[in-house]
Amino acid sequence: MDMTPIMIGCDHAAFQLKQRICQYLTDQGIDVEDAGAYSEEAVDYPDYGIKVAAAVSTGKFKRGILICGTGIGMSMVANKFSHVRAALCADLFAAGLSRRHNNANILVLGGRVIGDILALEIVKTWLETPFDGGRHQKRLDKFDRIDEIGLCAAHAQEKR
Ligand code: RB5
Repeated sequence: MDMTPIMIGCDHAAFQLKQRICQYLTDQGIDVEDAGAYSEEAVDYPDYGIKVAAAVSTGKFKRGILICGTGIGMSMVANKFSHVRAALCADLFAAGLSRRHNNANILVLGGRVIGDILALEIVKTWLETPFDGGRHQKRLDKFDRIDEIGLCAAHAQEKR
């Protein structure tokens, strides 16, 4: 299991699940930084998605976990950040492949979509599965190229 510290964030819709995941990670001996939300009072998910994605994007944290009702809003926010590869996973197969093929550095969960037990199993699989590298690294390098020169320029270059 990857034991590097994790930053976690959620909105009100996933507060209870976030608490369970924090407890699970702590029980495994993993340091967790809890970016909130800290209750079920309604908040705006981008505020928490931005905190975690920024920390992963800048390298302050190697890994993050984000949870909202569907996981969709958090995914949209997180994947706007350079060097963030956020994967919304609702099953173990996707969780494993998000690591093996995509080297996902943020796991996103939908607290209203999956049950707590499955969510914890997904977290476990995600932390235990290494990146395959090889041909997949070549593909991820193209993500970084978008960050470097911008999407329009990257597209124009491919057409040339
Ligand atoms: C909150 O009601 C809900 O919109 C949010 O948790 C999330 O599902 C957004 O994508």
